[in-house]
Amino acid sequence: MGNLQSIADAYRKKYNSEPLIVRSPGRVNLIGEHTDYNLGSVLPGAIDKYIYFAVGTRTDDDINIDAADYSDQFTASLTKLEPAWKLWPNYILGVISEFQKAGKYLSGMNIVFGGDIPLSAGMSSSAAISSATAFALNKVFNSGYSKVELARIAVAAEHNYLGVKCGIMDQYVNLFGKESHLVRLDCRTEQHEYIPFNAGNIRIVLFDSGVRHNLVKLTAAFNALRTQCQTGLELVKKHVPDVAALPDITESMLMQFVKPVDELAYKRCLYIVQEENRLKSICADLKKEDFVSVGQRMFENHYGLRDLYEVSCNECDFLVDTARQTHGVLGSRMMGAGFGGCTINLVYSDMIEDVIDKLKTAYKSNFNKDLKVYMASIGNGTEVVTAESLVQ
Ligand code: GLA
Repeated sequence: MGNLQSIADAYRKKYNSEPLIVRSPGRVNLIGEHTDYNLGSVLPGAIDKYIYFAVGTRTDDDINIDAADYSDQFTASLTKLEPAWKLWPNYILGVISEFQKAGKYLSGMNIVFGGDIPLSAGMSSSAAISSATAFALNKVFNSGYSKVELARIAVAAEHNYLGVKCGIMDQYVNLFGKESHLVRLDCRTEQHEYIPFNAGNIRIVLFDSGVRHNLVKLTAAFNALRTQCQTGLELVKKHVPDVAALPDITESMLMQFVKPVDELAYKRCLYIVQEENRLKSICADLKKEDFVSVGQRMFENHYGLRDLYEVSCNECDFLVDTARQTHGVLGSRMMGAGFGGCTINLVYSDMIEDVIDKLKTAYKSNFNKDLKVYMASIGNGTEVVTAESLVQ
């Protein structure tokens, strides 16, 4: 796994020059799952796991990319940019293409990147790569984009080069993350408020089910969910024309106008409407530092994702149910797009070891798999790291 030093060294060794290096974080999401593309709210935080992205310009049109962690390379040209036949380069090429479409000046470039964000675990390693690319190109070529514009560019890259119709949560928190704060983002207005998260005696622990989604299947499922939500919205709009998005809708509207026509759309939309309300309540709980209530709502979220949105998996359900019966855990739920990945858990600091032991043992005996565990602290969004920070 790459770190700042190894990525900087690899770049210098290969290109014999000093790159610009940005450090781009993964993220957790306390609540507000699948609400972003429904123009609801989310409550993520950037975490202390990173992609390091080193870039320098070239005098020709070549694009050379080294994925240090995969010991893999990809080359492309600015003059004939198109989606790559393999996956990972597209998170970078897609961003370059958006800069090109906007008519921004670019030259060829050399890129080396790598880091320690676990892949496909629901911590947004891919958004960290595309956001890092957007942030770094904006610096190197003085493109003049604001951070929210960079987030939109990274989202467009994912839509156009990967075909995943994701929302803006991951890219936004990647760029706006702030140490010890969660980002309460309204995805309709694209404005945020920072919510302090410095629970002294509580830590965020991630349990990794080890179940990994297949991107093709995930993309199809993700895009289908989006369509089902849109169907529900359109059905309500026929009767209540002034609703613009699902957060404007009530459970009784869904019951009246969607349930009789489309049961699946009803379930999806019901989850979103309930999730919006949970998010508001959690923000109030956090202001009061009522973590017991925060935890309860996390469990409720999980059951909504499992039963109504139907994006969980057996392993994540097991992890949440076991956590619920474990002394020291306040809340637990699956995190991210779903179909595998991690659960996010709030755990009392002085009981962390007992909790981890219990979950590991139960997971092993039930699935015969080793449970990976990550501690996550809330850190800053993407930033330039200087040569001085290399020697610290
Ligand atoms: C993925 C997407 C996000 C969001 C989450 C689910 O991480 O990239 O936009 O929709 O799933 O909350």
